[in-house]
Amino acid sequence: MKVLVARAVFPEVLERLRRHVEVEANQDDRVYSAEELRERLSDKDGAITTGSERIDGALLDACPRLRVVANMAVGYNNFDVPAASARGVLLTNTPEVLTETTADFGFALMMATARRIAESEHYLRAGRWQKWSYDMFIGSDVHGATLGILGMGRIGGAIARRGAHGFGMRVIYHNRSRLPAAQEAALRATWVDKATLLREADHLVLVLPYSAGSHHAIGAAELALMKPTATLTNIARGGIVDDAALAAALRERRIAAAGLDVFEGEPAVHPDLLTVPNVVLTPHIASATVATRRAMADLAADNLLAALTGGTPPTPINAEGLQPRG
Ligand code: GLV
Repeated sequence: MKVLVARAVFPEVLERLRRHVEVEANQDDRVYSAEELRERLSDKDGAITTGSERIDGALLDACPRLRVVANMAVGYNNFDVPAASARGVLLTNTPEVLTETTADFGFALMMATARRIAESEHYLRAGRWQKWSYDMFIGSDVHGATLGILGMGRIGGAIARRGAHGFGMRVIYHNRSRLPAAQEAALRATWVDKATLLREADHLVLVLPYSAGSHHAIGAAELALMKPTATLTNIARGGIVDDAALAAALRERRIAAAGLDVFEGEPAVHPDLLTVPNVVLTPHIASATVATRRAMADLAADNLLAALTGGTPPTPINAEGLQPRG
């Protein structure tokens, strides 16, 4: 059986895969074009991918042997799930193993944004620091403030817990489905409608999956509802925020600051975001700790090997509704 590991991964994980299947690796970590990916997958039974590899019906039609694609990410908007299900291709992702690490990062980015850590560090490095001043880089408090969470899944819950229990924050959230009362009580989080969330949050954190329905969930109209003192942190996906509208709001100080780990069209970053000072920019690293990236790679390998050897993949996306592959 042949598999493609579409991007570089820990060598130990490749070695483990090689004990069971024939592996084509990409340790140079080149991002394949759609054509090259299709060509390399055309004789493969399985693949490990990241969010950079798009798996859709056209690709699957050109890869008749493919049985499983294991994403090394919890988000899977790079997958056309109905197209894979209709063709009998199992898709998997890596939930749970990255929840706490990603929540740590979301909290760190929100704090860096509120307390102007990146902006002040650039100032210091540039040799501009002459004296202490009462109003130099004054930001806004995190403790005791209102934390707004848009999207209340596993990572949203982990951020809510940090805010409510660690920092004494009032936590409000908006999600299509409201959490059961016991879970809300445990998190000390209150469901509100989206407009209330935008109006009342001092620090708004986005943790919802990307889909056609969440495209530009935060655009000019939503930004206009936020407090001029508020911060916005996006650790979810590029495209959820209208980056051009956000850059304009930041420039005009219609909101105080933003922290962004994900971007529309990344790795390209909207040029206006690069020129406004009140934004902290990081290159999609929210899950990037040694332990978590290793756990993600191991889970992707577990899913792949189980699917190819008649086992039960631990974290399938489309096990239900999967048509037999003809
Ligand atoms: C990273 O963005 C992920 O979805 O795991």
